[in-house]
Amino acid sequence: MTILIRGGTVVSAAGASPMDVVIDGEKVAALVAPGSEVLGSLAESAERVIDATGRYVVPGGVDGHTHMEMPFGGTTASDTFETGSRAAAWGGTTTIVDFIVHRSGEPVLDGIAAWHDKADGNCAIDFGFHQILSGVDDDALKAMDELMREGVTSFKLFMGYPGVFFSDDGQILRTMQAAADSGALVMMHAENGIAIDVLVAQALARGQRAPGYHGTTRPWETEEEATHRAIMLARIAGAPLYIVHMSAKQAVATLARARDEGLNVFGETCPQYLYLSLEEHLFAPGFEGAKYVCSTPLRSRAEGHQDELWNYLRTNDLSVVSTDHCPFCMKEQKELGVDDFSRIPNGIGGVEHRMDLIYQGVVDGRISLARWVELCATTPARMFGLYPQKGAILAGADADVVVYDPAGTTTIGVDTHHMRLDYSAYEGTVVAGHVDTVISRGRVVVDDGAYLGSKSHGRFLRRGLSQYLL
Ligand code: URP
Ligand code: ZN
Ligand code: ZN
Repeated sequence: MTILIRGGTVVSAAGASPMDVVIDGEKVAALVAPGSEVLGSLAESAERVIDATGRYVVPGGVDGHTHMEMPFGGTTASDTFETGSRAAAWGGTTTIVDFIVHRSGEPVLDGIAAWHDKADGNCAIDFGFHQILSGVDDDALKAMDELMREGVTSFKLFMGYPGVFFSDDGQILRTMQAAADSGALVMMHAENGIAIDVLVAQALARGQRAPGYHGTTRPWETEEEATHRAIMLARIAGAPLYIVHMSAKQAVATLARARDEGLNVFGETCPQYLYLSLEEHLFAPGFEGAKYVCSTPLRSRAEGHQDELWNYLRTNDLSVVSTDHCPFCMKEQKELGVDDFSRIPNGIGGVEHRMDLIYQGVVDGRISLARWVELCATTPARMFGLYPQKGAILAGADADVVVYDPAGTTTIGVDTHHMRLDYSAYEGTVVAGHVDTVISRGRVVVDDGAYLGSKSHGRFLRRGLSQYLL
């Protein structure tokens, strides 16, 4: 199908300008200056003309951190690839990169087949995989090469969750050394899990069982210390490092110092850490706080973490906003920890809301329009070896395009969202901006409040190396 998107302002990581976009089949064919002579004939031959007057035309979002159907915390994340990818499309995200699970002692390569079984033919948008490695051993190091050949070029290690996903410092160092040789990207869950387990046991012994204690037993020092250690190990190995879901301002300050010294280290944060807080959300009355249990935890607003994270997004000390979409319903899932916060499955669902919530940062004067696109599409595409196929509207790129109405509004809540989740972490929030039309590889999947996609549309993306390697 040929589509002409006419009259809008195309926004890239470099800036914004009035441009018309021509889509031919699955690809962007051309960007044409308005008023150009070629437009007349294109408009006549286009099978569909989308009037984008007054709208922004932006690259489809790239969410580099999701957990669809992830077995975790004694249950399984509630969104399947089908429901979660559809919700992502509703919110203007056209690519997700999901984590294949591995547990210590299990054969690593069993995971990719299981993830293809879940995702292939079930995804509304294109998708790639990262690989989790737990308790790294020789088998895991060998599997890394095989996975790289399959287009899985990034590997998440955990300094948290002892007995579940944890790797010790020696295992981490060996993985980083292998990554330095192969060009793989190591992603780090940077929390000192051994210390946290002591604090959790002590809190429970004191009778502190409510969800809020999930936050107080994971103080910022446990994130900062692990961040520092991970950076030092990466420095010894000479490997690049990407730290996921950062929430403590002190940990990002440590990352920023390492970046200033020239180390090739990167940080990601997520909307929940920009908007939600320890006091208002994790310590909400009764069991309400369970909705907001995730790791790293939400941080104190009184201490100013949220504002600092926005600043770090502007200065590029934080380079990417992902969702860490890992939804668990209150009923029968979060409820597993009704008498003990340490049994509440960790995770928040938000794959649908990232583009809108971060656009709110533009409205609030925290980041520029171009930075919105860079954080949510262009940098994650580059970081995870997908650019320029994804992350930009360029001739020859996949036609993943969102028509975004800055004059519209979006109300977030459980009655209107499309995620398989029985609550919303942002219930009742009204944000400026609205996703009007979403195109995934040339196919209109969301249009004017209607879903037109299909679960057989999304394709697996064999990713290249991170484009931030030195
Ligand atoms: O609480 C979280 N973040 N759940 C998902 C697993 C992870 O560590 O990313
Ligand atoms: Zn994590
Ligand atoms: Zn995660």
